[in-house]
Amino acid sequence: MTGALVQAALAVRENAFAPYSKFKVGAAIEDAAGRIHTGCNVENATYGLTICAERVAVFKAVSEGVRQFLRIAIAADSDTLTPPCGACRQILWEFCGDIELILVNPRGMTETYRLKDLFPKPFDVSFL
Ligand code: THU
Repeated sequence: MTGALVQAALAVRENAFAPYSKFKVGAAIEDAAGRIHTGCNVENATYGLTICAERVAVFKAVSEGVRQFLRIAIAADSDTLTPPCGACRQILWEFCGDIELILVNPRGMTETYRLKDLFPKPFDVSFL
């Protein structure tokens, strides 16, 4: 499924609404049933209301009732492959735990990480 997930992330990146940064990002997350949920970044003229591709994909899936995830592919057009921002790492941890992340670009470069390696000491419900 990794190939389909990567292709979905690259394809949805084309839908990014990024007139301010011009930095288009796509994300595709696979749930435990093998379904793929996609998201792109959606910017706003206030800048601060911008939402990243990863959170769009996760929130779309959560709002459809999905609670278990296997892996996420994140696509941007950069040679140093783009990792999720801090806010997205926190949201991914909340819903996905130590998920596999596949970073990709349109030229076929890929790198794979576990969230725990990018986000080693997360705050979560265990502290409450
Ligand atoms: N962005 C994402 O969508 N995901 C990331 O992992 C990093 C940043 C977006 C937010 C903003 O629209 C643009 O990229 C530049 O920061």
